Amino acid sequence: MALKKLEIKNFRCFKSLEFDLSLKSSLFWGNNGCGKSSVLEAIYILCTGKSFRTSILDSAIKRGEEGFSLTALTDSSKRFYITKVRNQPISIKINDKKVTALELLKYNPLLSIDHNTYFYNDSNPEHRRKHLDRALFSVYSDYSQNLLNFYHTLRLRNLSLKKSSPKDANAWNVSLAETGDNLTKYRNDFVTKSKTNFINILNQSSHPKAELYKDIKIAFNAGFSETSFLDTLTKNISQDLFKKVTSEGPHRADIKFLFDNRQLKHSFSRGEQKVIAIMWSLSFAETINQLSSSCPLITLDDLGSEIDPHHLELLYPLFNKFENQLMFSNITSLFDSKIENPFNNFKMFHVEQLN
Ligand SMILES: Nc1ncnc2c1ncn2[C@@H]1O[C@H](COP(=O)(O)OP(=O)(O)OP(=O)(O)O)[C@@H](O)[C@H]1O
Ligand SMILES: [Mg+2]
Repeated sequence: MALKKLEIKNFRCFKSLEFDLSLKSSLFWGNNGCGKSSVLEAIYILCTGKSFRTSILDSAIKRGEEGFSLTALTDSSKRFYITKVRNQPISIKINDKKVTALELLKYNPLLSIDHNTYFYNDSNPEHRRKHLDRALFSVYSDYSQNLLNFYHTLRLRNLSLKKSSPKDANAWNVSLAETGDNLTKYRNDFVTKSKTNFINILNQSSHPKAELYKDIKIAFNAGFSETSFLDTLTKNISQDLFKKVTSEGPHRADIKFLFDNRQLKHSFSRGEQKVIAIMWSLSFAETINQLSSSCPLITLDDLGSEIDPHHLELLYPLFNKFENQLMFSNITSLFDSKIENPFNNFKMFHVEQLN
């Protein structure tokens, strides 16, 4: 499914905006503060019911207004309508029927590549876990429930550890291990497939840097040391009672990027890390395409910042190969006379002129 038309009212700097998107790729460009990220944020909210910039949605209501509304029409004639009135919960409707944010996610999967993603290797493990879990939400309908069950049981075990009760703590081991093993299986499988896609993406490129990036090792750490999570829980009980917390498990899972056996962040420049993070996210999109019937919309905020034109040329051919609907933002219109317009059915919006 692709978004065909957008309507934005009283959102951030926009009073009222209405335009037709490209079903393939759209670029929003313009100066700092003109509203590029706000357009992508509006699209993100239309797909997830949340913002990638803030947990306080009221801050996105245009100053001086009481609420915002966002509407998207899809190529299959579905109408997504979201309103947020100050101090009231968000209202989400699909074809005039109220739905929850979780239901919305299933209709309109989206993969956002934004400032939270660019310094993937520099950010904390929790961020990388969330990035992975969000991708898994779009593939497996039971994944979010499984994750909730896991964290619920983990809290109960930790509570028993705080009360220094080994009997109570151990009583949670089997159910915790069951949900934990399930999460680990999904995560491991998804990362393995994404690693293959990462290499495939690089193999499609004749860019000189592609060869270097192929030497990056991507390692999934499940978060526990024993072969089974149950064995880890049993082995760690004295240590966990001492620390009053479950020390190992899927809640400590991480993905590490290594080059020459060292973490990537120690040797790669910021621009290089950003290109790698974009390619890794595109590998996720490809895995979602392969594992599910959905083809997530991909948004990419501030594509060109910190990446020189030579490195951008590594990314352009990749975008072209994706069947997903793509939306970018950038300060300039990206293409000078030397770089041929690389995208299919490409539409450019000068955001200053949209309002
Ligand atoms: N609630 C709000 N009401 C009115 N204006 C707002 C609100 N929230 C943010 N703004 C303003 O909206 C403008 C657009 O912000 P946005 O982050 O979308 O710009 P941008 O084009 O992405 O800029 P940059 O190139 O710096 O990333 C900014 O001037 C910002 O101060
Ligand atoms: Mg921006």
